[in-house]
Amino acid sequence: MKILGIESSCDETAASVYSEGKILSNIIASQVIHQKFGGVVPELASRAHHRSIVETTDQALTEAGANIDDLDGIAVANGPGLMGSLLVGLSFAKGLAVSRNIPLIGVNHIDAHMYANFIEHKEVYPFVALIVSGGHTRLVYAEKILHHTILGKTRDDAAGEAFDKIGKILNLPYPAGPVVDKLSCDGDGTFHQFPRSMIDKGLDFSFSGLKTSVLYYVQEKGERYVEKNLNHICASVSEAITEVLIEKLKRAVKTTGVHHVMVAGGVSANSMLRKKLLHYADEMNLNLMIPSIQFCTDNAAMIAITGALKIRENLVDDLSLRPFAKLQK
Ligand SMILES: Nc1ncnc2c1ncn2[C@@H]1O[C@H](COP(=O)(O)OP(=O)(O)OP(=O)(O)O)[C@@H](O)[C@H]1O
Ligand SMILES: [Mg+2]
Repeated sequence: MKILGIESSCDETAASVYSEGKILSNIIASQVIHQKFGGVVPELASRAHHRSIVETTDQALTEAGANIDDLDGIAVANGPGLMGSLLVGLSFAKGLAVSRNIPLIGVNHIDAHMYANFIEHKEVYPFVALIVSGGHTRLVYAEKILHHTILGKTRDDAAGEAFDKIGKILNLPYPAGPVVDKLSCDGDGTFHQFPRSMIDKGLDFSFSGLKTSVLYYVQEKGERYVEKNLNHICASVSEAITEVLIEKLKRAVKTTGVHHVMVAGGVSANSMLRKKLLHYADEMNLNLMIPSIQFCTDNAAMIAITGALKIRENLVDDLSLRPFAKLQK
């Protein structure tokens, strides 16, 4: 079974071919145009997708040694994401599917972040997933495939959003998550105790207070002090975010009693988080699944594997498939 995955929900145009447990190609065209604006500009994103989607898909098929007619399914992210961006990938996938009579499979981008773990790990249930991406932060209990219960979610900013917004306050380039991560490696995480919002309460998250606290801290200390201690400040921010994430995950695992635990989304690339997770899983003898770095941030391999899982479950769509901007719950 060969599945083509297409991803265009935000600012990466991506295509990938998955077959029989293997990713045969994984092409990502990142849009650098947004960097000078300090965030994604939706209209520019959809135009850039439009320009690169044919070439990206072509490259993915060529690298996989596949023809369009070899495909058993075309999986496409149909939400959540930017409407204009989603429409480019979805319309392209529909056109390809209908012209060659290939089944079309709509894939939820956030589910795909989770199922990216099954590219490199054995498919197992039930599991608890900590999803930490640019737009979402949630804890999910999956009883079986695509049967998800939300245990907790962020009440304001997502973890990736917190890294990016705090990075902006610290004058770091967008997206700031990987930069803060790198700077943290040479810093002292105990340098300043930033707030750990809602750490003792339930399974919901809140990161906007941390962002405000960093803003006041920077205003109080001044530019020169911040520049001089940037590594320590970044490490202290990373400590605050990762400590909350780990504590909530621990609570969710305890509540559900699961043995299988996964982490997904762009922030799962964070080195401090990965280190803490490994330590925790080791201590508790848990089966921890974290994608390798290339499958943490947006990619089409995660769309292709989720498409393969859905087609296995006979969950196929037709041309009435619509894009959606936000998750329903
Ligand atoms: N090493 C890292 N440390 C911290 N954050 C990181 C790291 N690498 C990437 N990120 C963050 O991950 C986010 C991007 O992840 P992802 O691609 O999963 O998000 P998205 O697709 O924009 O949002 P969503 O998946 O919620 O729609 C950005 O906020 C980025 O700063
Ligand atoms: Mg994403």
